[in-house]
Amino acid sequence: MESASKKSLRRAYVWGRGMPNASILGLSGSLRNARFRIGSRSLTIELERIENEKALTDYLVEQTKIRANDFLEAGLSTGAPFDDVYRALQKKRFERGLSNSEAATAAALWAAHHYGAKISHIALAEHFASNGSVREPQRLAAALRAADGIIVSSPVYFGDRGSLVQGLFEFIASDASLKRDVAGKLYGGLAVGAKRNGGQETTLIYQMLDMLNMGFLAVGNGHETTAQYGGTAKAGDVGTFAADQYGLETCIGTGRRVARTAQMKALDRDGVALADKLSIHLWLLQDSEDGRGLRYFQDWAKDLVARDPTVNVRIFDAVNDEVARCLACEVCPTKLGHARTYRCIVTSADDFFVKHHVEMLDADAILIAAYSPEDGSRTKSVYQQFVERTRYLRRDNYVFEDLLVAPFILSHVEARQNLHIRMVTSMVRHHTILNRPIIAFESEGKLIDRASVVRDSELFVARSKQLSVARYLQHKAETEYRPIGYEISAAKWREEYASGRMGQAIGRRQADHQLLAKARLDPERTGSEQ
Ligand SMILES: Cc1cc2nc3c(=O)[nH]c(=O)nc-3n(C[C@H](O)[C@H](O)[C@H](O)COP(=O)(O)O)c2cc1C
Repeated sequence: MESASKKSLRRAYVWGRGMPNASILGLSGSLRNARFRIGSRSLTIELERIENEKALTDYLVEQTKIRANDFLEAGLSTGAPFDDVYRALQKKRFERGLSNSEAATAAALWAAHHYGAKISHIALAEHFASNGSVREPQRLAAALRAADGIIVSSPVYFGDRGSLVQGLFEFIASDASLKRDVAGKLYGGLAVGAKRNGGQETTLIYQMLDMLNMGFLAVGNGHETTAQYGGTAKAGDVGTFAADQYGLETCIGTGRRVARTAQMKALDRDGVALADKLSIHLWLLQDSEDGRGLRYFQDWAKDLVARDPTVNVRIFDAVNDEVARCLACEVCPTKLGHARTYRCIVTSADDFFVKHHVEMLDADAILIAAYSPEDGSRTKSVYQQFVERTRYLRRDNYVFEDLLVAPFILSHVEARQNLHIRMVTSMVRHHTILNRPIIAFESEGKLIDRASVVRDSELFVARSKQLSVARYLQHKAETEYRPIGYEISAAKWREEYASGRMGQAIGRRQADHQLLAKARLDPERTGSEQ
């Protein structure tokens, strides 16, 4: 007799079927929110009825206009002072209408629902009063605990989040038990500002860092749009969100990416294991002239492997190698091909990527490592040229897709380089899943708080194992790099698409993934004999 858990694994292992229904919670941080409580419930019901993107746009146009009319009816049309308008609005509780950033949440939740997720919505204004008190904290905590992934939407205020979103972050950070329970859940962000370059990206990056530091895993918007920081929309006056078609698409892309990643992660629930060792790649991109960083990371790897022999750490010492600059080619990589075939235009024999391209593709998880010593003049760094050279890997339909990535910094307390922020910013563009940065601080030649580095490293390993298994248990998506903003590349992409060559390349990658999955997962524990 086959056990129930083996049966469910068998189901998951038949590609594409048995996908779990992740729960995705959308949290709207607008001061102009329309939907509260029952209005949130009606919002999700309405979203679930919308069949396609065109109907979604029509719905958002209608709902944001309703919210604009609410403001007019509350006194704006008669020229009443805004505080009176605001008070009049506060007295009402609506079941219709959407503010701009609330419409962004709606777009993302619609996409998550279409991806098979269960969706729910909360207006943060329900919980965070202007006097600083938190209403019904248990209800909010329960909703956060019940979700597999959360999407946080904020209006941009001064290039950053609004106070309601800040309230949410403080709420999570101040409750140790809640923080423990939400650790490892997926996070994606949306930001709506009145202007292009109004601070949508800064808002999203700061939010992402805070969420990572609180233990969440972070993803950006998906490969169908730009695979960057999340939803970035432009809308100033109430009622204008749906006019920004591209912003709307980035919100849809974020909802889809959060749902897809949460569902993939949930595939691991039955405790399947890798048949072989977990392969962690550590890219060392900056060091001191005397190689203190390299020695530190080597010792760290030795200790880690001694504690857990199922892990293999491969250190790539790029600092002591040649890393040529990117040439910013119009068409990158040079041609379509197999992921293992090196296709960057730089071909000098001593170049790091020429030498290590194939090995780099065997990572299950990646640590981007650097040493920031106190004395910057004694630093050797290939950080920037290394990151720019990874462009051909991103543009090769995201070869690092879904790998867990974390910055790993050894930093003098006075170095103040903030490299971990730049690493998060650049690596999310590889369609990866981001983990809390690991930071080892040193002062006067001594490490401060070794225990937190051990704890964070072990967490990274555990999550890498879980996500590696889940990655192999899922049917690989048809991920493709879309050259948004590049006309020459776009023309080449259209040509390859029309000829069917792009489809073939993606199909080959999916087939390779399937073969690799059969080799990498433990047959004893997956029921993969079918
Ligand atoms: C206090 C305040 C600060 C703002 N700061 C910015 C800003 O830095 N950049 C920007 O693009 N828009 C800024 N805005 C505009 C809002 O982000 C924009 O109107 C947004 O659509 C509000 O979303 P909502 O309708 O969901 O509340 C600001 C608005 C307010 C009230």
